[in-house]
Amino acid sequence: MKPQRLHKIIAACGLASRRGAERLIKEGRVAVDGQIVTSQGLMVSLQSSTVTVDGQTVASPQPLAYYMFHKPKGFVTTLSDPQGRPTIRDFLLHLSVRVFPVGRLDLDVSGLLILTNDGELATRLMHPSSLVPKVYRAKVIGKPDKSFTDLLSSGNLIIGGKPAAPAKATIVKSGPDKGYVELTLTEGRRHQVKLMCAAAGHPVAILKRISYGGLPLPEDLPSGNLRPLDDDQIKTLKGLVGLD
Ligand code: URA
Repeated sequence: MKPQRLHKIIAACGLASRRGAERLIKEGRVAVDGQIVTSQGLMVSLQSSTVTVDGQTVASPQPLAYYMFHKPKGFVTTLSDPQGRPTIRDFLLHLSVRVFPVGRLDLDVSGLLILTNDGELATRLMHPSSLVPKVYRAKVIGKPDKSFTDLLSSGNLIIGGKPAAPAKATIVKSGPDKGYVELTLTEGRRHQVKLMCAAAGHPVAILKRISYGGLPLPEDLPSGNLRPLDDDQIKTLKGLVGLD
């Protein structure tokens, strides 16, 4: 294994982005063979050296892994929950590598989550400037009409005291007291779809994410199941954030 820059090793282990790793080094939280390193750019071979972050050994970098996961509702998007609620970790125990969710879906929301240990890609995808498109299918209360979708796509809807970025919205089906709407968002604020739909007069009853970064949730991927991303899918995600 060739020597690599220290911040790259930390990022490759999924602990932080490269920039985050540089910060850890600057803050004096990283040691090589027991010696704290605060200068950037040190070349380290993991064959002969031990790297620790906050005193914990950084294992040899694992191979990078990328999955799509069909999250069921009723599970928190985290690997451990202080309140003891079921988490998505329950579905990952058979994996030989540790992967982390890219962003999150609410407890009561189902659908596509990307999981990876590629810290650099995950950090970039989650950054607000990346404008990654996310498509949701929402069942809403009441009969949504064009004024509802116009409002969602207007950029004038205020949520959390700030205008929500315009969302592309189309009505898929509409009955007398419920409707199904598809929304494409490039913003990723907490509870964003629920807040936008409620602010536009039709609260969400059921929400599912059906696409992330141009990758659709496969119809044959059952709830609670994982599937590795293929090379093209990894390339698609990397391309969105300038890592190609
Ligand atoms: N919008 C929401 O309201 N909840 C989610 O989980 C994702 C988007």
